[in-house]
Amino acid sequence: MKANLGGTDIEARETNSASLAPGTGPRAGSVVEPDTANQVGATFAENELRRLHRERASELGEMAAALAHEVDQPLTAILSNAQAAQRFLAQNPPALGDLQELLAEVVVDSARAHAIIRRMRQSARREPPEISAVDVGGLVREVVGLLRRETQAAGASITARIEPALPHLRGDALQLQQVLVNLLLNALDAVRDCDAADREVCIAVTVTADRGKVGIAIRDRGLGVDADQFATLFKPFVTSRPDGLGLGLSISRTIVMAHGGKLWAERNADRGMTFHIELPAQSASTKAHV
Ligand SMILES: Nc1ncnc2c1ncn2[C@@H]1O[C@H](COP(=O)(O)OP(=O)(O)OP(=O)(O)O)[C@@H](O)[C@H]1O
Ligand SMILES: [Mg+2]
Repeated sequence: MKANLGGTDIEARETNSASLAPGTGPRAGSVVEPDTANQVGATFAENELRRLHRERASELGEMAAALAHEVDQPLTAILSNAQAAQRFLAQNPPALGDLQELLAEVVVDSARAHAIIRRMRQSARREPPEISAVDVGGLVREVVGLLRRETQAAGASITARIEPALPHLRGDALQLQQVLVNLLLNALDAVRDCDAADREVCIAVTVTADRGKVGIAIRDRGLGVDADQFATLFKPFVTSRPDGLGLGLSISRTIVMAHGGKLWAERNADRGMTFHIELPAQSASTKAHV
């Protein structure tokens, strides 16, 4: 299957997901000593060594691609805010009023890029993930704030409808934040060229009647996808965007599944797409495997 990687057409590998979630990273330090005592043993050990090297190179490649994907958004935001600060300072007299807010955003985005890299290092070193109780409503509001610049650039708005008194989730808040960032960036991209009335993205957070699961639905009124695209949405390196890596959905699904949840897509009856996430609430018996 043809896919696009960084603007280059490649033959896509059909795996189900990219390795971002902790526990799926490369096995650092795997060493196999060839047994040279007899020829058959040596051949087996050499083959095994080659196989491990191939496996490790491929895991590292997946990890590098995932890292490139995930740090791109905060780094782009930092660059854009730093450039805006330069423009404010170049005015005569310098417009200092907005600088504080810009710098505060630079600090938040830098910390996020740093945290993403730290997670990758932990994953590569097979260290345990950072699990805590996650306030999903707070997480959604935070992500909507983080994407303020991208939302404006798309001429769009994001509306959040958060059910009151939601149970907490148990997991890695940074990774769950990444999922929401990926899905919202896709939705913003899908509505960018639509009529103004359709450039609204809605994110709704609900809890099931038994309070066992939290649902997050991200709905847009964008271009949508045809049946063929729908079938390959979650495949890594499959993208319709000229500058896309085709990794956002694959990484997001890996993270959600590692949290014991599900992520799936739906084509809306009228226009656009809805992406659904379902995650076990903290009190639910299902345990996350992150
Ligand atoms: N909300 C959406 N509306 C329409 N198409 C979508 C939507 N979300 C995803 N897609 C389609 O699915 C493809 C894969 O999405 P995915 O996020 O995995 O990669 P990408 O956005 O192309 O690139 P990136 O790796 O930068 O995220 C997109 O190229 C697009 O064709
Ligand atoms: Mg994407």
